[in-house]
Amino acid sequence: MKKIGLTIHDGNNVLDSVSLLQSELKLLASDGGFEVMLQELTKDATFDVYPNDDEKRLLEFFYVVEGQLEYTEDDETITLKAGDYFYTKNLTKLCVFRAITDVKLLVASPHPTFHYLAETLKLHKMNEEIDKVDQYTHNHCERVQNISLKIATEMHLDHDRVTKLAVASIFHDLGKINVDDDILRKPEKLTPEEYENIRKHPVNSAKYVKKIKYVDVSDIVMQHHERVDGSGYPKKLRGEEILLEARIIAVADAFDAMTTERPYRRAFTVKEAMDEIVKYKGTWYDEEVVDAFVQFLKKDKLI
Ligand SMILES: [Fe+2]
Ligand SMILES: [Fe+2]
Repeated sequence: MKKIGLTIHDGNNVLDSVSLLQSELKLLASDGGFEVMLQELTKDATFDVYPNDDEKRLLEFFYVVEGQLEYTEDDETITLKAGDYFYTKNLTKLCVFRAITDVKLLVASPHPTFHYLAETLKLHKMNEEIDKVDQYTHNHCERVQNISLKIATEMHLDHDRVTKLAVASIFHDLGKINVDDDILRKPEKLTPEEYENIRKHPVNSAKYVKKIKYVDVSDIVMQHHERVDGSGYPKKLRGEEILLEARIIAVADAFDAMTTERPYRRAFTVKEAMDEIVKYKGTWYDEEVVDAFVQFLKKDKLI
């Protein structure tokens, strides 16, 4: 029926798709940059809508076909159910939606976005692969992202920085995909050579995030193990030579590592981990970031 301008498609035979454990993105139709996609999310998966204040951008439209989504802003939570919809135009802030059931979301965009989203989804997939090997750090990146964004809120960072921080924190450890599974899994202390192997991961993470076209977070990712006194790696940067976003991730990362149980030690309590981070305030960790971090713990009544 193409000759009369009508295209009927079998839903099992979409133009393109990329799938993950927690979500699947299908490209249903595409014409001259206009795209219609179906995003399928499993319960608890998150869906990010990125800011774009390019004046020439037209609105992007999202329609909930099935299930329920939740959006929280300033302590107010809005639930979207089947039939509800939202759209964005000149969005100034990253918006994170959470699927509270399995969700099907129809996305219509007047700009080509599928391959950008697909690229990001592939990186999420690498995160899942690392998670499978490194059981002890399961969901580490999501937690680091969460804590990093809480710190950013306390520090009143602008939306550009928040977006970069969100992307960099979720993908900071991607380079661990190049580390031998045996090393990642090893419960005992690592040998100097094994440790050397692990220390390459920030550089590799930076290489992978270069594939994200809409935002460049490679330097932030590269610097997440730097310490303000210059004792970190890979470049031994000091103080403000380290990007603020990387200084934030360093604190969130350390906190999550300490509060997670390891085969050779129990998990620290929140208070113990906080004390440890405060102990290194100004030497390993940025003073302002640590202050904001402590403030967030108090506000969220975690201590
Ligand atoms: Fe790391
Ligand atoms: Fe990490």
